[in-house]
Amino acid sequence: MTPEFTHRFVPGAMASAPTILSLHGTGGDEHDLVPLARMIDGDSAILSLRGRVLENGKPRFFRRLSEGVFDQDDLRAQTLALGQFVNEAAARYHFDRSRVVVLGYSNGANIAASLLLTERDALAGAILLRPMVPFEPAAPPALTGIPILISAGRKDPIVPTPRTERLADLLHQSGATVSVLWQETGHALSPLELEQVTDWWRQTFGT
Ligand code: MLT
Repeated sequence: MTPEFTHRFVPGAMASAPTILSLHGTGGDEHDLVPLARMIDGDSAILSLRGRVLENGKPRFFRRLSEGVFDQDDLRAQTLALGQFVNEAAARYHFDRSRVVVLGYSNGANIAASLLLTERDALAGAILLRPMVPFEPAAPPALTGIPILISAGRKDPIVPTPRTERLADLLHQSGATVSVLWQETGHALSPLELEQVTDWWRQTFGT
């Protein structure tokens, strides 16, 4: 049986636009990134999920043992569940499964990275805001030509720079077309960065 996620689906105005899969950060929910997804693309359908794990009452997409130390068994299980749910949601809401682009922030970006590193053809693109490498894959996955934007904060106290750089390297070695934007900020997103993300989307998906 397909695992269920609490979620919101917002239909798109244009069937040809990609569907944005939005995944919040720790303590967020399925409503958090909908306005940002809509700002990035006014026409896309949006599938926005709530993480199924609670940490002191705060939703997350997978368990962690401490800051930046992830429960790898749970990460694997939750990544699989996420992939299965998106497959099922495509049939339920009639969107093109081959044109799903993820928009993830922090913990949501980390499970999105895990999905990219685990499951072939799971995503047609990714915007990863404040991500880090979630695990080291045995071999680089095949991500040839998949556009991926990473936006990271030079002063981020939660995500050490080398862990973002390692993720960018891994995705690049896997054949993805990776762009990295370094912000002079911490873990919080900045208005300038959101404009840059929207520009990247326009250039990449042309909507
Ligand atoms: C978070 O607080 O969400 C961390 O920065 C990332 C994570 O634990 O996945």
